[in-house]
Amino acid sequence: MRKEVVLVTGANGEVGHGLITHLARSKRNAVVAMDLQPLDPALTPLCDRFIQGDILDTMLLGRLVSEFEIREIFHLASLLSTRAEFTPEAAHRVNVEGTLNLLRLAVEQSHWQGRAVQFIYPSSIAAYGLPSLAAKQAAGCVREDDWSHPTTMYGCNKLYCEHLGRYYSRHYRQLAVEPDTAHVDFRCLRFPGLISAETLPTGGTSDYGPEMLHAAARGESYACFVREDARLPFMAMPDAVKSLLMLSGAPRERLTRLVYNVTSFSLSAGEIYRLVARAFPTAEVTFQPDAKRQAIVDSWPEDIDDSAARADWGWQPDYDAQRAFDEYLVPAVTRRYASEPAR
Ligand code: SER
Repeated sequence: MRKEVVLVTGANGEVGHGLITHLARSKRNAVVAMDLQPLDPALTPLCDRFIQGDILDTMLLGRLVSEFEIREIFHLASLLSTRAEFTPEAAHRVNVEGTLNLLRLAVEQSHWQGRAVQFIYPSSIAAYGLPSLAAKQAAGCVREDDWSHPTTMYGCNKLYCEHLGRYYSRHYRQLAVEPDTAHVDFRCLRFPGLISAETLPTGGTSDYGPEMLHAAARGESYACFVREDARLPFMAMPDAVKSLLMLSGAPRERLTRLVYNVTSFSLSAGEIYRLVARAFPTAEVTFQPDAKRQAIVDSWPEDIDDSAARADWGWQPDYDAQRAFDEYLVPAVTRRYASEPAR
């Protein structure tokens, strides 16, 4: 018999760390983790198996079928927005073709199992694109279906993969004589910028939030690459993990959408600085906006409307900004860097 498992791609990433810790604790299913790089040793005891490899390697993905009955896929692997702008075509391959490969895997698994395979996909505020700062400020809190003209490769990839998920879950092979029996239960969250105390994101545009905090905790100065008044929605990592698990656990019949906004609090870069400085009074932060990265932030909404998630599956964040800094971020980053000498 093949083993029932949950597959997590991008296991070493920010979200992967938090999610795998919770999945292992909940013991819902054995965790098979995948990443390009060797698995962080801290995660090794939490995973039943680790597969080091590329989501573009279809042979590798194909071989998973012989070993595992994959009940659920958390597809977290992707190239974030800033990094993707330096290699747009490579980003497209990883973000889109990689997702397509995993959707194919879900179809195949569903055929073998004769039941639905759940596919949880984190999308992003990058899927939005507001044409100007004035439009952003006028739009305020935006709903899922508005302003969907992203300006970054990453945002285009995320938006398109949301559509691919809809296609695979509702319209796959619609012209076949016999309807395809595969059922991919695609569920997607649009995340705001995420802030984790345990890991730093790599290559994102909302990274100035977490970078400012981690630099202060390490006693390093930080040059923030956006203006002090640049405002984005953010969320602390425990809430991001909570939202993934809540969406995954929600009864299918309660879901009125495939793509849900989730958020916790909106802060300007200056407000983040003030929360950081309260905890680390010697923090040295300067604001040295990079016009091009600033333009990306200006195209993302300052707040997102998550009322559909609240109504359909009871979404509610545990951490507002104050609590996120006081009870999670500051104590955890302080512990994290306590053993390292200040630089
Ligand atoms: N945090 C991501 C980025 O900045 C957005 O989802 O790329």
